[in-house]
Amino acid sequence: MTERSRRTTEADYDAAETDYVESRALVTAEAEGDERAVEAALRPRSLDEVIGQERVREQLSLVLEAARGRNRAPDHVLLSGPPGLGKTTLAMIIAAEMSSPLRLTSGPAITHAGDLAAILSGMNDGDVLFVDEIHRMSRPAEEMLYMAMEDFRVDVVIGKGPGATAIPLEIPPFTLVGATTRAGLLPSPLRDRFGFTAHLEFYEPADLDLIVRRSAGLLGVTLTDGGAGEIASRSRGTPRIANRLLRRVRDYAQVRADGTVTLEIAHRALDLYEVDQSGLDRLDRAVLDVLCRRFGGGPVGVSTLAVAVGEERETVEEVAEPFLVRSGLLARTPRGRVATPAAWQHLGLAVPSTAAFSGAQGVSAAEADLFTDD
Ligand SMILES: Nc1ncnc2c1ncn2[C@@H]1O[C@H](COP(=O)(O)OP(=O)(O)OP(=O)(O)O)[C@@H](O)[C@H]1O
Ligand SMILES: [Mg+2]
Repeated sequence: MTERSRRTTEADYDAAETDYVESRALVTAEAEGDERAVEAALRPRSLDEVIGQERVREQLSLVLEAARGRNRAPDHVLLSGPPGLGKTTLAMIIAAEMSSPLRLTSGPAITHAGDLAAILSGMNDGDVLFVDEIHRMSRPAEEMLYMAMEDFRVDVVIGKGPGATAIPLEIPPFTLVGATTRAGLLPSPLRDRFGFTAHLEFYEPADLDLIVRRSAGLLGVTLTDGGAGEIASRSRGTPRIANRLLRRVRDYAQVRADGTVTLEIAHRALDLYEVDQSGLDRLDRAVLDVLCRRFGGGPVGVSTLAVAVGEERETVEEVAEPFLVRSGLLARTPRGRVATPAAWQHLGLAVPSTAAFSGAQGVSAAEADLFTDD
C-alpha cells in the first residue's frame, strides 16, 4: 500500500497531512484519529436504541432472550460487515443486554497463544469476550480459541521440546463475540464455531436520517428535516460517516451561521468539504471525470487511470474504486475500468451511444482483476 492510502485507512491519521487527505478522510469509513472517543458518546446502548439493521436486530434479540430464559451464556456471535456499520456497538450491546461484563481485545493484540490463555483464564462465568478484527489473530492463538469455544477448555503448554507438557485449563462458560470486516479470511473451523453470524448491511437513507437526528440530539445540535436528509444522503450508507459529516456541518453552522443545520447550510458546508450529493469526494469524481472525458468511458487500465489523476494505483484501487463500484458508477471488466451510464449522468454528461459499458456485464470482480493491468 502507498503511504497515502495507508494513512487514510488507519487510525494513525496525522492532522498535519495536506488538505487533500483531510477531505479524503471525511468520507472514509474507517475511524480516524481520536474519532473513537467521540463515537463512544454516540453509540446506542441497547438493542432498542439501534436504528436500522432490522433483521440482525431481531435475530440477535432472539438469541439473547432465549439465553436469558435458559439462564445460560448465549452462543458465540460473529459480527461481519464493512467498517463503521456498528459491529463494536453491537458487541457492547450484547454484553449490556446480558448484564455481563465485557472484555475487549483484538486479533492483532493476540500474537501468541499465551496472550489468549491469559485472557481466557481470567474470565468469569457468563463474561462476554469481544475480539475485534478476529481475522488478524495468530494461527496458534486461533487453534487455542477453537478448543475454548467448543469445550471451554484450553491446553496450556509449559516448556519446550520433548519435555513440554500440556496442562488442561478449564474456562467458565463465556460468550465470544468476534468482529471482522473480512469474514472470507476466517478459517472455516473458526467460522463454524460461531452459533450465530450477523451480516451487517449498508444503511438505507431513511435509517441514516434517523441516526443523524439521534446524534444531533446527543450533541445538542439543532437540525431541520432538510439538514438531516442532506447529511444522510451523502453518507455512503455508513453511520460513522453520517456522524462525521454532522460534526463538520455543525462547525460550519456555528461559524458561518446561527448554529442551526438547515438544508442550505448542510449543502454549503458539504460543498465546501467537497462531498457531493452521492457522497463522492474529490478523488472519486476525478477518477470518473478522467474515465469519461479523457478515455471516452473506458475500458482503461487502472494504472493508466491512476497516472491520469496523479495518484498511486493502490489509492485508486483501494480508496476510490470500492464505493464507485458499489454505487454502480464504475465497473471492472477484463479489458479495464468502464464508466456506467450512471457515471456519465452523475457528471452531467450525455451518455454516448457507443458506451463501452456493454462489455462490462457478466464478469466477476475476481475475473476482471486478472486482466486489469496495463
Ligand atoms: N445502528 C446504529 N444506530 C445508531 N448509530 C450507529 C449504528 N451503527 C453504528 N452507529 C454509530 O456509528 C459509529 C461507528 O460504529 P461502530 O464503531 O460500532 O462500527 P464498527 O462496525 O465497529 O466499525 P469498525 O469496523 O471500524 O470497527 C458509532 O459511533 C455508532 O454510534
Ligand atoms: Mg469496531
